Amino acid sequence: MLWSWSGNTLQMAQRLSELSGAEIYRIEAAEPYPTDYDACINRAQQEQREKTYPAIANPIANWDDYDTVFMGYPIWWYELPMIVQGFVNDHSWAGKTIVPFNSHEGSGDGGTYDDLRDMTGATVLKGLAIRGGDVASSLDRVDSWYAGLGL
Ligand SMILES: Cc1cc2nc3c(=O)[nH]c(=O)nc-3n(C[C@H](O)[C@H](O)[C@H](O)COP(=O)(O)O)c2cc1C
Repeated sequence: MLWSWSGNTLQMAQRLSELSGAEIYRIEAAEPYPTDYDACINRAQQEQREKTYPAIANPIANWDDYDTVFMGYPIWWYELPMIVQGFVNDHSWAGKTIVPFNSHEGSGDGGTYDDLRDMTGATVLKGLAIRGGDVASSLDRVDSWYAGLGL
């Protein structure tokens, strides 16, 4: 399960999918985010300030069939993007295990792994945070992290 605006987190997801065989479901915003960086920053900040959860264009099918969910996202304004928060709030997490991973430009995981634990009550395994600009040259970190999860 993935949200990625500029593709850094998507690269991590693709590596993870190769390793694990997991399908990739990519959350799409019904109203696409601007491709212009400043416009995207502004929209994201406004959503966070006003606590609005953008509509998702492509609801996931067969949610109940998944026990383990790798959840990938970038840090936006020190948090989970509101579109990801909305997805999390709208789904049942009973009995599921979340494996979080994210990219960022300095915030690390920003406390989002703890937030996911609080929001869902699910089992949240050790996450992996990589700086966005380093993702392409650091995909071996995805390999060693995945191997250490014992899944
Ligand atoms: C709207 C917006 C807000 C961001 N806020 C933060 C932040 O608070 N902390 C941080 O470390 N990086 C922040 N970033 C940088 C992204 O987390 C980083 O570029 C990430 O790798 C983007 O992932 P993506 O290519 O999957 O979209 C922000 C980027 C955007 C577009």
